Amino acid sequence: MKILIIGGGGREHALAWKIAQSPKITELFCAPGNPGTASIATNLDIPADDIDSLIQFALQQSIDLTVVGPEQPLVLGLADWFQDNGLKVFGPSAKATQLEGSKVFSKVLMQKYNIPTAAYAAFDDADEARAYLKGKGPQVVKADGLAAGKGVFVCADEAEAVDAINQIMNDRIFGESGNRIIIEERLEGQEVSLLAFTDGTTVLPMEAAQDHKAVFDGDTGPNTGGMGAYSPAPIFTPELKQEVIQRIMVPAVNGMRADGIPYRGVLYAGLMITDKGPKTLEFNARFGDPETQPLMMRMQSDIVPIMEACADGTLDTCTLEWKPEAAVCVVMASEGYPGSYERANRSTDSIRPTRYWESRCSMRVRNKRAMRSLPAVAGCWVLLPWVIRCKRQLKKRIKRSVKSNGREFNTAKTSAKKPYSFILEDSDSQQSTQGKPLIFTTESTEKIFKIK
Ligand SMILES: Nc1ncnc2c1ncn2[C@@H]1O[C@H](COP(=O)(O)OP(=O)(O)O)[C@@H](O)[C@H]1O
Ligand SMILES: [Mg+2]
Repeated sequence: MKILIIGGGGREHALAWKIAQSPKITELFCAPGNPGTASIATNLDIPADDIDSLIQFALQQSIDLTVVGPEQPLVLGLADWFQDNGLKVFGPSAKATQLEGSKVFSKVLMQKYNIPTAAYAAFDDADEARAYLKGKGPQVVKADGLAAGKGVFVCADEAEAVDAINQIMNDRIFGESGNRIIIEERLEGQEVSLLAFTDGTTVLPMEAAQDHKAVFDGDTGPNTGGMGAYSPAPIFTPELKQEVIQRIMVPAVNGMRADGIPYRGVLYAGLMITDKGPKTLEFNARFGDPETQPLMMRMQSDIVPIMEACADGTLDTCTLEWKPEAAVCVVMASEGYPGSYERANRSTDSIRPTRYWESRCSMRVRNKRAMRSLPAVAGCWVLLPWVIRCKRQLKKRIKRSVKSNGREFNTAKTSAKKPYSFILEDSDSQQSTQGKPLIFTTESTEKIFKIK
């Protein structure tokens, strides 16, 4: 099988890493990919949103399956265009992608099908929106459209909410995406991401993951698109998972189908586990970045037949197995992130493991020139038997490596905000681009959270 992966972030590297392990694969392409995917697949010089060129390439090469990473090409109708050209694609249609592309759309669906979510109101008029806030408790203001993960303001009081409305609707900081907003009650609790495969009829849930959003350690500092992730999520008990599948995932997929917009691909539910049960913060129409990195490491089953089944409508014939170990993704970011930070940071050309690290893993940083042009944000993922201590271990090792190279990465900040990631691999399996993930020794770690 020839597979084309669209996108160029850590998520796509993780997908490529997993897909490349399928015995079904004969050739793997990535458009545009990154230095991480370059060691596994053939990178193409085609941007993820250049749908014409992507179709042309897929037709020329007789690509058997195209896997879409980011939301933008889906919103632009990539899946529809590919299907019209007789090309099989893993990812929802443009209409179905509204579930992510419009927060109003997803709220309307949730309300219609009784899916637990925060109470809300939608506005296209700033005065009405401001008036609505009177006498309400803490609220969250969200731009309706895509805003690169920056369109949500979690507000402490009315003044902050008014300021958010002004920025979105008057200053129009997100342009058209802020034509409409929603204002919803502010929920409290832990966040969990549950992703599921679906062919529009069957829902095949994955394991849960949790990502951390605040830029600094200890959950402090400004919010980002996600600062690393781990799986499984200790808070997400099997009972809770069943509840989320039955009350959120299945009704969403059935509701979309009933509304004449069958949803195929990955359905990602961003959840808040409140003391009144799980509530849906949002849906995404694709794999999450950084959740995908730990999820791909833990997935035991071949992912390719599952993706094909989603496209073919035969997902009811599939099963999904997981490794019992935990997986963690830790990402490094340059000073200043997520605000302005030096893009072509010189430090990025010197990512090199310490000798200790070198003896344990190969970081697969081959193309140093390509790296110099990348934003100074990089991720690392690893599969380990324990979650919490392992994250610390991983960070410690990154730090040590950074120190010895005199690099400027501040690893106290972790970030998964694209675009470069590397898999820690066993140095013995250097010959294999799909080598086994490195298992750190854990004898010095406390067994805080042991899986199985
Ligand atoms: N109702 C809410 N109550 C509390 N926090 C929220 C609420 N909605 C969103 N958030 C916070 O804002 C973040 C981003 O919101 P989300 O709806 O996931 O939008 P996006 O990912 O598109 O920015 C969430 O991960 C969560 O931390
Ligand atoms: Mg989100």
